[in-house]
Amino acid sequence: MRRVLAGVGVMVAALVGAVLLAGSGLRTVAAQGAASKPAFYTEKVRPLLQTNCGKCHFDMNHKGGLSLATKASTMKGGRDGVAIVPGDAANSLLVRLIRHEGPASDPMPMPAKAPKLSDEEIATIEQWVKAGAVMPDDPPPAQ
Ligand code: HEC
Repeated sequence: MRRVLAGVGVMVAALVGAVLLAGSGLRTVAAQGAASKPAFYTEKVRPLLQTNCGKCHFDMNHKGGLSLATKASTMKGGRDGVAIVPGDAANSLLVRLIRHEGPASDPMPMPAKAPKLSDEEIATIEQWVKAGAVMPDDPPPAQ
């Protein structure tokens, strides 16, 4: 009898463990899932970029050859080549520059002539790049 009870105890412990594991796994998947939706870019990333980088990398401004205005231009990168490697924040020039971990000059840390972004803002952009840098497709060019 005691052995049966011990067996049941082990089974319960294993079950609780499995449920806990599944729970934390789901939470991670949910977080990654949100960041890989185009809405994450539209609602969280783009406003950040527009506010902090807009003066030099949106509209007619392509400092360093980089325009962040469209998906095509964002993915094309600038004078130094691609700025974003989807899924690989550490190798993305844009992330290295906003973390102030890129080259000390040429290209210089971003945003140029402004204070470093907050840790939270940097984390949002990194999370977006890690989840694949997903953004809505550009509208077809106007005829
Ligand atoms: C005041 C203007 C200004 C602002 C604001 C600014 N940049 Fe830049 N950016 C530049 C200039 C100028 C260069 C070219 C620097 C160089 O070649 O040394 C550049 C270059 C870059 C490059 C490298 C392009 C390449 O291929 O060489 C990236 C990536 C970049 N910026 C990202 C950003 C991001 C992200 C922000 C906002 C967080 C930002 N920049 C804000 C002026 C700006």
